[in-house]
Amino acid sequence: MSTKAGTAPNVQLGAGVEMPQLGLGVFQVPPERTSALVGDGINAGYRSIDTAAAYRNEAGVGDAIARSEVARADLFITTKLPNTEHGHAKALAAFERSLDQLGLDYVDLYLIHWPIPSLDLYVETWQALIEIAGTERARAIGVSNFNADHLERIIAATGVAPAVNQVELHPGFAQAELREVHARHGIVTESWSPLAQADRRVLEHSAITDAAAARGKTAAQVILRWHIQLGCVVIPKASSPQRQAENIDVFDFELTGEEVIAIAAIDVVGRIGGDPATFVTQPENADD
Ligand SMILES: NC(=O)c1ccc[n+]([C@@H]2O[C@H](COP(=O)([O-])OP(=O)(O)OC[C@H]3O[C@@H](n4cnc5c(N)ncnc54)[C@H](OP(=O)(O)O)[C@@H]3O)[C@@H](O)[C@H]2O)c1
Repeated sequence: MSTKAGTAPNVQLGAGVEMPQLGLGVFQVPPERTSALVGDGINAGYRSIDTAAAYRNEAGVGDAIARSEVARADLFITTKLPNTEHGHAKALAAFERSLDQLGLDYVDLYLIHWPIPSLDLYVETWQALIEIAGTERARAIGVSNFNADHLERIIAATGVAPAVNQVELHPGFAQAELREVHARHGIVTESWSPLAQADRRVLEHSAITDAAAARGKTAAQVILRWHIQLGCVVIPKASSPQRQAENIDVFDFELTGEEVIAIAAIDVVGRIGGDPATFVTQPENADD
């Protein structure tokens, strides 16, 4: 792991690609607010931004990149294939549209957003991403919301493991079994909704508030530190520069092993988002 001043340390994705262990998520950020919010994030030290075609704010991310004084090579940009674009030809075309929206000639990480098992096209879609990686316009490729059986299937079919699986993961939904599968295949675990979308039952849980009070840190900082110590990449979303700064300031303290276990065991929220085994694209959840 290496650290640049003012930024998160990097994790290795293989093939010489490094990814910041903490980035800024922009799910549910309105398109017209995205450029300013991402610009604030870059100013606060974020170097990794997580968007998706389905968030409809890739153009705002691209605008912030274009305006930033930070060199493109020092940023790490992730976007995702929409659920409506599974299949070889559709996936290749969707990738082009994302690059176009972002105004970039490459992304650092391109993910299949959801496996959508009911379509049964995720193997073919993964093959398209492998081709995209071959053109070097995605420095790394991965998946999101893949269960163990989805992962095993794409690896068996293609011989290529995703660099990353971005999954719902937060206190009380620690995904221990899936993280073990990832470790076996050399897949980096990336936590989405890492703060459990600021659910007060998590933020105000004594396992977290006690650890926070003992260190003069906030509950959000303790939760994000917990992800870091699990070895996960983490992408909290925060709207204000103050919260963005708070959330990236998690590299100067450590939780004990007992605290890490106690936080994983918090049992109040469970899964917030869709179940990958059954999730299908519908208008009301198309932008998850
Ligand atoms: N792959 C997928 O299917 C998938 C699904 C969901 C999310 N994601 C990714 O994961 C990212 C994060 O997930 P998320 O946005 O759902 O949830 P989250 O990061 O767990 O929580 C975001 C919420 O926490 C609040 N918050 C942020 N920092 C805080 C702090 N220091 N103290 C108190 N509250 C704080 C935010 O409020 P304010 O905004 O008002 O500051 C917002 O309401 C997304 O933006 C997206 O990039 C991916």
